[in-house]
Amino acid sequence: MFQTSMRTHTCGQLRLENAGSRVVLAGWIRKIRDFGNIVFIDLRDSYGITQLVFEGENLKLASNLEEEFVIQVEGVVRERENKNPKLSTGDIEVVVEKLNLLSRAHAPVKPYDTTSEETNLKWRFVMLRHEDKQQIFKFISDLMFETRNFLHNKGFKEIITPFLTKSTPEGARDFIVPSRLHRGKFYALPQSPQLFKQILMMSGFDRYFQIVKCFRDEDFRANRQPEFTQIDIEMSFVKRGDVMSLAEELVKYLFEKLLNIEFSQFTVLTYKEAIEDYGSDKPDLRAEDITVVHLDNVKGGCGFRIFESANHLSATFIPVKLSRKESQNLEKELEENFCKAAVVPFSDGNFSGPIGKNTSSEFQELVIKELSLPSEATVIFVANDAATTLIGDIRNWLIRKFNLAKKRFAPAWIIDFPLFEWDEEEKRFVSVHHPFTDFEEPADGKLEHATSLAYDMVINGEEVGGGSIRISSPEKQQRVFELLKISPEEAEEKFGFLLRALKSGAPPHGGIAFGLERLAMIMLGLDNIRDVIAFPKTTSGMCPLTDAPSPVSERQLVELGISLKGQH
Ligand code: AMO
Repeated sequence: MFQTSMRTHTCGQLRLENAGSRVVLAGWIRKIRDFGNIVFIDLRDSYGITQLVFEGENLKLASNLEEEFVIQVEGVVRERENKNPKLSTGDIEVVVEKLNLLSRAHAPVKPYDTTSEETNLKWRFVMLRHEDKQQIFKFISDLMFETRNFLHNKGFKEIITPFLTKSTPEGARDFIVPSRLHRGKFYALPQSPQLFKQILMMSGFDRYFQIVKCFRDEDFRANRQPEFTQIDIEMSFVKRGDVMSLAEELVKYLFEKLLNIEFSQFTVLTYKEAIEDYGSDKPDLRAEDITVVHLDNVKGGCGFRIFESANHLSATFIPVKLSRKESQNLEKELEENFCKAAVVPFSDGNFSGPIGKNTSSEFQELVIKELSLPSEATVIFVANDAATTLIGDIRNWLIRKFNLAKKRFAPAWIIDFPLFEWDEEEKRFVSVHHPFTDFEEPADGKLEHATSLAYDMVINGEEVGGGSIRISSPEKQQRVFELLKISPEEAEEKFGFLLRALKSGAPPHGGIAFGLERLAMIMLGLDNIRDVIAFPKTTSGMCPLTDAPSPVSERQLVELGISLKGQH
C-alpha cells in the first residue's frame, strides 16, 4: 500500500509481531470506555480498528475526547491481556504517549441510529465510515477492477460514449438537459449507451466495453435507481451463443475471484417455460420445486365464483402449512404488496376453508398434480387481471419471505423472448427489449409473432443483465419501425444517425449490459440497491445529502430561455 507521512500503520495492520514497536496511527474515535484510571479507545480507519490505551501520566490525554473526533496518536504496541479474536488487530493494543487532535465532530454523529431514510442519507458520510459499509464499497471497487481485468484480457477496449446526447428508447422516461447555446433544444441523458455501442461496431471496434452511468426517470423499486451503472459490452461478428458464453465466463470469473465460489451450471429457460413454470421471466430458481400453475383454462365451472369470474387465475404454494391466523396475516401482506390473494392451507389431499368446500374435486386434483404439492402446504391463489406475471412476483417474494431457497446462488438464462408485446394503453405493439433487437423470421411470416435473439441473465430472481443480437440490416430495421408504428420521418428524426451508420457497412453484432449495482447486491446478499450506492436517492428521487433536485436561479433560467409555469 502507498505509505503516507501522517501514520506508520493503518488501524487494521498491527499484529503480535509488532509488539514493542513505536507507531503512529490516525483515525476516528469509534468508542470510548472510561474506567477512571484507564481509558480504552477504539480507533477506526478504512482498514480496521485498533484499541488505544491511555493510562498513567498519559491518562489526561484522553480527557475531552468524543466519539467521531479525528485524532493522530503515537505510542508503543503491547500484547493485550484480553485478546479479541473477532478483530484482526485483537491481539494487541497501542499504549498512547502523544495525541494530536486533528478534527472535532460538532454535528450529531449518530444519525445511523435513526430509522428515517432521509436522515440516514443526509448524514450518509457518518454511516459510510462504518466497517460494513466500507467493505461494500471496497467490494464494488474490486468488482469493477476485476471486470476491467477480465475484459481487457479478452481483447475488449473501454471506450467512453457521450452523456449529453439524444434520447435512447429503453422504455423509461428521459432526464433532459436544456441547452443554453441552442435555446429550446434539449439533450437527453442516456438510458444506456445502446446506439453508441452499436455505432462503435460499425466504426470497426471489434470488442467494446464500458463501465458507465445510465439515467432513467422511472418509478422506484428496491432494485431500481434513477442513475445506475452498467457493465456494457458489445462485440462484432458474433452469434447469440458467443455473447452468452462471454457473459457467463465473466460472471463465473467474478464469483470465483471475489467470493471464491465456483458457480454452478446456468439453467437455460425459454421465456415460455419461465412463464409457464414460474410465472415470471425472472424466476428465483433457488427453489426450483416451487412452481406455479395457470388455471385460466379450468377456472370456468370450478365452483368458486370469484375464481370463475376473474380474467386470470393462477396459484403457487409454500411447502409449509400455515395456521388460520398466519394465513390471514399472509393474505393481508400479499394485498399490501401485490394484490388480493386467497391463502389456503392444504394437508393430506384437502384444502381448508371455503375454497376446499366449494371447488370441484377435478379442480383440486389438477392443482395438487400441477404444483406437485407435498402432504403439508399452503396454496396461494391469485384471481386477477394481471395474474400471469404477478403470480411469479409473488412466488419470488414468498421464497425470500419463508427462506425457501435451497442454494445460495441460482443463475439462469432466459431466452426466446417474444420480439413485441401489445401495449393496451397505447394500442400498439412495443418492443419487449428495444427496437434494435434481431429476431428469427417467424414461421407464419407475421413479424408480430417473431421470437427475439435476446437473452436475460437472472440470478436469484433478479435480472442482473440483458442483451441481444442486433439488427444489422437497414431494411430489417425499417420493418421493425413499421410494426412499431414509427414513421420513416420519425425514425429519421430520432435514429437517423443509426440508420446512416447501418447503411454504411454494419457487421453482425450483439452484446449485453449488466446492472453493476444489481450484480453487487446479489453477490453480497443485500436486498436494496441503495445499500450498494454511496450516495443514493430516496424513493421519491431526492438526494437528502445535497438536497437535489433544487431550484435554479432566475438568471440560469433566463440564459436557458426557460420560464416556469405556476407555483414552485
Ligand atoms: P436493460 O434495460 O435490460 O438493457 O438494462 C441492463 C441491466 O441494467 C440493470 N438496470 C438497472 N439497475 C438499476 N436501476 C435501474 N433503473 C435499472 N435499469 C436497468 C438491470 C438490467 O438487466 N442497452 C441494453 C443492453 C443491451 O441490449 O446490450 C439495456 O440497457 O440489471
